[in-house]
Amino acid sequence: MCGIVGYIGGQAATPILIDGLTQLEYRGYDSAGIAVLGPTGARRVRSVGRVRELEAALPKRLAGKVGIGHTRWATHGAPSEANAHPQAADRSTDAPPTTVFVVHNGIIDNARALRAALEADGVELTSDTDTEAIAHLIARADADTLEEAVLATIARLTGTYALAVLDTAHPDRIVVARNGSPLILGVGDREMFIASDASAVVRHTSQVVHLDDGECATVTAGGFHLFTADAQHVGKAATTITMTADELELGDHQHFMLKEILEQPQSLERMLTGRLDERFATARLDGLNLDPQALRRFRRVKILGCGSAYYMGQLGAQLIEDLARVPADAEPASEFRYRNPIIEPETLYVAVSQSGETADTAFAVQEVKRKGGTIVGLVNVVGSTIAREVDGGIYLHAGPEVAVASTKANTHMAVGFALLALALGRVRDLSITDGTRIVKALKELPRQIGEIVADGDKVVEAAELLAHAPSLFFVGRVRGYPTAREGAQKFKEISYRHAEAYQTSELKHGPLALISPELPTVAIVPDDELLDRNIGALHEISARGGEIIAITHDGVELDARLTITVPRSAPELDPILLMIPTQLLAYHAALALGENIDKPRNLAKSVTVE
Ligand code: G6P
Repeated sequence: MCGIVGYIGGQAATPILIDGLTQLEYRGYDSAGIAVLGPTGARRVRSVGRVRELEAALPKRLAGKVGIGHTRWATHGAPSEANAHPQAADRSTDAPPTTVFVVHNGIIDNARALRAALEADGVELTSDTDTEAIAHLIARADADTLEEAVLATIARLTGTYALAVLDTAHPDRIVVARNGSPLILGVGDREMFIASDASAVVRHTSQVVHLDDGECATVTAGGFHLFTADAQHVGKAATTITMTADELELGDHQHFMLKEILEQPQSLERMLTGRLDERFATARLDGLNLDPQALRRFRRVKILGCGSAYYMGQLGAQLIEDLARVPADAEPASEFRYRNPIIEPETLYVAVSQSGETADTAFAVQEVKRKGGTIVGLVNVVGSTIAREVDGGIYLHAGPEVAVASTKANTHMAVGFALLALALGRVRDLSITDGTRIVKALKELPRQIGEIVADGDKVVEAAELLAHAPSLFFVGRVRGYPTAREGAQKFKEISYRHAEAYQTSELKHGPLALISPELPTVAIVPDDELLDRNIGALHEISARGGEIIAITHDGVELDARLTITVPRSAPELDPILLMIPTQLLAYHAALALGENIDKPRNLAKSVTVE
């Protein structure tokens, strides 16, 4: 979704802003723009489409050592140059005239009323955006300093925002504010960076300051000053981010999605390091901030996430019930907050999110906290909003994930749930023998995933077959069902083919009517206690002419057009390995169809608005 960058220092701002916007492209956007303040005044350039189109539209010389930039994902008003940011407001009464430029992420709920009030005052608005109203409010504020003008303006806003404000009347600074949308400052040597996401500053500095909701900052070439809405100083030191610029490079790969699928053996190895306690056959999860007594106290687990993270929550709930025998379920965070959920003191709430910025999940976290519940996070991005709001958590350590369709972060979420289930199980009735069995199986996962991704021929063949089906089913039972749901999600996200997941057992209760040679089925069939029943259901499909691509274990005989096998893990962990071929299936199908794999249409990597 929308991205913000800003620069102030001794270098030319334009290339830094363009590079930062390019790094943020993966989040999804439809237009982009920058405003740079130079010796001869300010210049703003905006364009619809990609950052490279913006770059092409730039004048030859766009000098200036301070500037702000934005990638926009349309919310208020269609994608157009007029609606792209920076939005601007002129103070024509000043001599010489001055201009306020604003870039904004988030949604202002009272934008309509603010715009109407401005228009009633004679302001001519040139865009359909909520952001333009912010620029005018700042320009018209009765204030001596830019900081006062920003504070007076945000006092009138309801909704969410991350703002960066450049004012030609105050060329030595950028003022920023945050409420509900992420914003960080990058601290350099006599230069400062502003970004909505660390990936935009990682090339320049590893020192960052995360703004919290309600915080503002004055950013100058010499440093930053943080303050609250009531102008109180906030003392905060920079922290070091571990992400490196290399991790954001494509390297020899054609797409980030494939790179991220292939990275999983190494990234998982890293995640598991130091977290497996072989002596006591459990998981070491100090970041949870829950001692054994506290872990025992919970009588239920409720997992909250969106999209793929929700499906991984379903997989996690099954793991927790299997290993810890604690009732567990997952719910889309996007629904949870709006149904006045009952928060129980003896329930452990778990928020799961790759980005740590998904607005629906962040709001669900706040809802749990507001009602006094205990909530921990399974989050990938260190220092992200959700990671900072939860009571404790397990960082996923998957490294940056750039492709919109999540793969390695999903696998890390599933493994994170396995660790949590193990820890919950071992303070209850999971025996040391079973604990040891799970620890051993977890240690094997990176190598086994390496085997699966190295042996892709069958998957490519299957993907090419599926790519041309107008519609398909993904089926699985019990432990295999979340894998089927995630497989269908991945397939539809990037191939734009209709893919629907069903419990294999439910086929005969309706969907079987659709089975025909034109509608193939991807079946997740672990070699477990349900194998015979699964085989029976697959016969029902083939008897009706339906083609089957089976993802199963070696030695399982199935009546399928193509069979893809994965190594056996502990039965509880099998769904994790069975998921890997579904990632490759989606990738190769989208490749065969020539789709834009890393940036699928209509989707954003990180959905920071509701
Ligand atoms: C968006 C993305 C999905 C992702 C979901 C949750 O909808 O398009 O791919 O699964 O957000 O993202 P999170 O960062 O919270 O895991």
